[in-house]
Amino acid sequence: MDKTRIFTGNAHPQLAESICRQLKVSLGKALISRFSEGEIRVKLQDNVRGKDVFIIQPTCPPANENLMELLIMIDAARRASAWRITAVLPYYAYARQDRKDQPRVPITAKLVANLITASGADRVLTMDLHASQIQGFFDIPVDHLYAINPLCEYFKEKAVADLIVVSPDVGGTRMARAYAKRLGVGLAIVDKRRESPEKTEVMHILGDVKGKSAVMVDDIIATGSSLLEAAEALKKQGVKKVFAAVSHGILSGNAIERLNASTALEELVITDTIPLAESKRSDKITVVSAAPLLADAIKRIHDEQSISCLFDEATK
Ligand code: R5P
Repeated sequence: MDKTRIFTGNAHPQLAESICRQLKVSLGKALISRFSEGEIRVKLQDNVRGKDVFIIQPTCPPANENLMELLIMIDAARRASAWRITAVLPYYAYARQDRKDQPRVPITAKLVANLITASGADRVLTMDLHASQIQGFFDIPVDHLYAINPLCEYFKEKAVADLIVVSPDVGGTRMARAYAKRLGVGLAIVDKRRESPEKTEVMHILGDVKGKSAVMVDDIIATGSSLLEAAEALKKQGVKKVFAAVSHGILSGNAIERLNASTALEELVITDTIPLAESKRSDKITVVSAAPLLADAIKRIHDEQSISCLFDEATK
């Protein structure tokens, strides 16, 4: 890994440190601060000329600040003659704005892809995109990882009796099927209707869930509405215990208050693609690390090895 340099902005330095520990390399030195008027000030303090540069920056809230830091860092690396620049976005913001589903709305996920490419990134490494098709918004290579490995490991060790995997919406069926296959258990689907960005309503539950314990799997928990409404509906259908396994814990709005108040959801397991602020800690939340997987992918990209072994099974 001599030829690599790994940098991070202010989005999630702990994750970058943890990835570097796995790789047994030190995090590159960089000044990422603000000018007095609030503009972002970047200076890479390690030489990157001819180096394989990885910039680790999930675009979690505050998404705009974190995205802009990433773009400016890529620009700095490009102008400093880096050999190759990989933008590592363990969480890709704006992914839910991926199509024109109403008149006069933007496709912000595509705009973000354009910005990352225009800033000078040669490749992108990301995890559990809200919609896999976002890979096609880029004309540069995208490696797309899945948090299924660390999340399933956790539930395998927990060995919950009579477990069933539940997709909290029809769109998540494919992902839920992969979890069910990996855990060797059955699958059920919640048919939900989204009334507004903050409110959902459960219409039906497809599958036999009575007397089982359920693990709902999803890519994102934001307001918590989808998962908490679905947990209540599952309890009403006679599910014994409800757990959730989610790749990205955004936990916005009053998600934590709602989670703590929920009598239906037993435990929420998330990964560390997004930092969990002290104010968001809860006895109901368990964090498993995605750092080993990201580190493995970075090493394989650098060594020009295939990374499909890290996600093949998850996508079948
Ligand atoms: C929806 O399609 C996504 O997979 C998540 O279920 C959704 O974005 C979560 O949002 P919230 O927690 O606000 O319901």
